[in-house]
Amino acid sequence: MFVVVGVTGGIAAYKTVHLVRALIASGHEVHVVPTADALRFVGVPTWEAISRHPVTTTVHEDVATVRHVSLGQRADLVIVAPASANTLAKMAAGLAEDLLGTTLLATTAPVVVAPAMHTEMWRHPATRANIATLRERGVHVVGPVDGPLTGGDSGPGRMSEPDDIAAFALGLAAASTDLDGLRVVVTAGGTREPLDPVRFLGNRSSGRQGVALALAAADRGAEVALIAAHVEGDVLAPAAGHPRIAVTAAGTALELQQAAQDAASADVIVMAAAVADYRPARPADGKLTKEQNGDTLRLDLVANPDIVAELAAGRREGQTIVAFAAETETGDALLARARRKRERKGVDLLAVNEVGWDRGFEAAENELTVIGADGAIVAHVAGTKRAVADAVWDAVLASRRTSGTASVS
Ligand code: CTP
Repeated sequence: MFVVVGVTGGIAAYKTVHLVRALIASGHEVHVVPTADALRFVGVPTWEAISRHPVTTTVHEDVATVRHVSLGQRADLVIVAPASANTLAKMAAGLAEDLLGTTLLATTAPVVVAPAMHTEMWRHPATRANIATLRERGVHVVGPVDGPLTGGDSGPGRMSEPDDIAAFALGLAAASTDLDGLRVVVTAGGTREPLDPVRFLGNRSSGRQGVALALAAADRGAEVALIAAHVEGDVLAPAAGHPRIAVTAAGTALELQQAAQDAASADVIVMAAAVADYRPARPADGKLTKEQNGDTLRLDLVANPDIVAELAAGRREGQTIVAFAAETETGDALLARARRKRERKGVDLLAVNEVGWDRGFEAAENELTVIGADGAIVAHVAGTKRAVADAVWDAVLASRRTSGTASVS
């Protein structure tokens, strides 16, 4: 792929050196277009040595090759990292005062920006408005993430890690379109069942696998309704910026049930959310206090509806329903339990993974087995949550082919 990497003025520019290396290591041709300000952080020799291509910043150099538009025209993918608040504003306004500006206006390739700035600048209404404008135009936004910033402060504003930017951008550009025309619902995260106005019963789901499933589907051409229960930190950010993903928030199991029913006409429903089996029977109107309850507090819990089983029972023809299960058993006991659960829920596929105190949560990687009709193992995959997500969609497509359901329109 012909990749243009725009670099703007920010300390995170040093990390973009690693991004360029990662892109070249994956076999891509990379052309770096820094702004004049970016060169105060990392100079031309570094960019030229690392990319093995000439590097210029203004439209007045290398005029004979019409470089101010040719880079944009040839690009299969444009990444701006770091994208400063100033550059985001210029992009939103369509300014073309330097080579990066003209390249961005001349390209029809996917554009990914990785913002980096101080939290106050990221939260400023002007930046928010510029980001919203860019998203509306189809620009993809990766990050920023929460973490230490240059001034010793900390918060959202730190540029995403180079490997994450590369994976996101390459995933977008190389996306196959085998889910084109499919409407899918993905649920993600863990529900929180209120005990009183300030407390809840929750679980350790981070939402990473569910969000990865939504992103993989959207990158492969599907229209995705992502129903998000509680999702950790910035995990939702890439999905919120994706043009083919509509995010709905659903805090409790009952809210998630409603949102899932509203979207239930979809072709595929993937229930990756960790839904609480029980909720407090009567959430207290006021805060529960030790003064009232003393040393022992008894909670009455009532069962939540089994959402996926309900959806499966009312499914329309041609619909594929996938459940997830996180189990603490291992080996054959795990598989036997997963097979029983698939039958009991009446779903087409059940993806099961092993969890424990120190396994399966909050990690970037996952390992799971997908059980299909008659309890057959149709996939076993270990890898990044994105790789696992792609394997689940492959299994969905295979299941739809076997059941004679047209997978694409
Ligand atoms: N699920 C659901 N509604 C619930 C509970 C779970 O839709 N009230 C869905 C989950 O989203 C997941 C699948 O069912 O896709 C399996 O969830 P799990 O909690 O493992 O199933 P349970 O029926 O609670 O089984 P058990 O507690 O016996 O393990």
